Amino acid sequence: MRITIVGTGYVGLVAAVCLAKQGHQVTAVDREPVIRGLRAGVLGIWEPGLEELFADGRASGNLRWETDVVRASLDAEALMLAVGTPTRPDGHTDLSQLHEVLAKFMHHGDCPPLIIVKSTVPVGTCDELEVSLRETGLRTEIVSNPEFLRQGSAIQDFMYPDRIVVGCQSPYAEAELRHLYARIDAPVQVCDRRSAELIKYAANTFLATKISFANMMSDLCEGYGADIRQVMAGVGSDRRIGPHFLQAGVGYGGSCFSKDLQSLLTSGKLVGLSLPMLEATAHINEQRIPRFIAKLISCWGNLQGKRLAVLGISFKPNTNDVRDAPFLTLLKQCQLHGIAVQAYDPVVQHVPYDGVHVADSAYTASVGADAIMILTEWPQFVSLDWARMAQGMRQPIMLDGRNLLPNKAVERFLEHDAAVYIPVGR
Ligand code: UGA
Repeated sequence: MRITIVGTGYVGLVAAVCLAKQGHQVTAVDREPVIRGLRAGVLGIWEPGLEELFADGRASGNLRWETDVVRASLDAEALMLAVGTPTRPDGHTDLSQLHEVLAKFMHHGDCPPLIIVKSTVPVGTCDELEVSLRETGLRTEIVSNPEFLRQGSAIQDFMYPDRIVVGCQSPYAEAELRHLYARIDAPVQVCDRRSAELIKYAANTFLATKISFANMMSDLCEGYGADIRQVMAGVGSDRRIGPHFLQAGVGYGGSCFSKDLQSLLTSGKLVGLSLPMLEATAHINEQRIPRFIAKLISCWGNLQGKRLAVLGISFKPNTNDVRDAPFLTLLKQCQLHGIAVQAYDPVVQHVPYDGVHVADSAYTASVGADAIMILTEWPQFVSLDWARMAQGMRQPIMLDGRNLLPNKAVERFLEHDAAVYIPVGR
C-alpha cells in the first residue's frame, strides 16, 4: 500500500519503519528540522531495533521523507495521523496538530480516500473530523486505529500486537486496514469508531489503575509486615487478573498514562460523569514520590547538606524518554527540601533542569551520597558492585524504588556496617 504517515514521534516513526519493513511504500512527514535530522540518520528517539529497521527502510527504498503533507500524499491510498495530542492545562486534549494537517487538505480540495487516526484522541473526535471534511466537500473516510505499543518494546509490540483495533464505518475501510496489516498475525477487532477511540483510553487507564492498586496494597503490606511481591504473585496468578502491571514502586510515569487519564476525566465531565476510580488512581500515583521522600526524611532526621544519588532518569528502562518521569517529580521535591541530586542513567546523559548533576557512572553518582534511590529498573543496576557503592557513600542508605535488587546484591550492600536497605511494600 502507498501510505503517508504524519508525525515521526514514537508512534509515527515506529509505524513507518515497521510498515516499510512489511513491504508498504511509506512516506513519513514532519516539520523541516525533524526531517532534516531523519535524512541525516538522526532518529531523535532511542528504541531497541529502531535503527536497524530505519536503515532497512532506507536501503529498500520503501521509506521516504517529506515536509509537505499534501505533496507527500498525492498518490497515497491512505493518510495515517500520528501527531501529538497533548493535554492542555484545562484538562482538554489539544487537537490543533490534527486540525492543522486536515486544514491543508481542505484548502487543497483533495485528500487520500482514507485517513487512519493513530493519535490518541478523545471519543467522538473522528466523527467531528469527518463532519469538517464533509463540509468542504471531501469524501474521505476516517478510521480510528489506536496504537498499544510500549516504549522500550515498541517494535516488538507493533509487529506482534495482542490485537489490532479498527473503528470504521464501511467494508471498504475495513478491507483496506486488513490489507495494511495483512503481515501481522493478530486478531483484528472491528468496531464502531467511538468504541475504538474509547478502547485506547480504557486500556491505558485500566493499566494505570492496576499499578495504583498494587501501590496501595504495598503501603498496606508495609503497615502489616507482608511482602507485596508475594501478595501480587498470588493475586496475579489468578488467570482472571493476570500477572502484569502489578509491580509496586515509585508510580507510573511516561507521556501516556497521566495524559490519557486526565483526558478521560475531562471526557467524563463533558457528559456529567466524575469517574471516581480514575481520580483515585491519579491520587495514589501522585502520592508515591512524596511517600519515598518522607521515608528519607525520617531516616535522615536533619536535611542539612544532604545529597541523594538517583539511579534511573528515564520513566522506564530501554528508553531515553524523560517525559513525566518519576525522576522529575523527585527532583522538584528534592529542590523544595534543599536536597542535592546526583543522578545516573545508562542512556540519559543530560537533563534540562537545574539542581541535578548527571554523573557518568552509577559509582560516581553514589560517591559522597547520603542515600541512593533506584527509580528505574534498568537491568544493569543489578550487576553493580553494591559493596563498592556502599563504601563510596557518606551514609549507605538505599531505597529500592522498584524492588529491583535480588538478595545477593542486597547482601553485598549490607556488608557495610551502617548500611540500610529500604525496599517497597515489605
Ligand atoms: C503505555 C501502554 O502500556 C501502551 O500499551 C500504550 O500504547 C502506551 O502507554 C501509549 O499510550 O502510547 P508506555 O507508557 O510506553 O506504554 O510504558 P508502560 O510499560 O506501560 O509503563 C508505564 C509506566 O508504568 C512506567 O513508568 C512503568 O515503570 C510503570 N509500571 C509499569 C509500574 O510502575 N508497574 C508496573 O507493573 C508496570
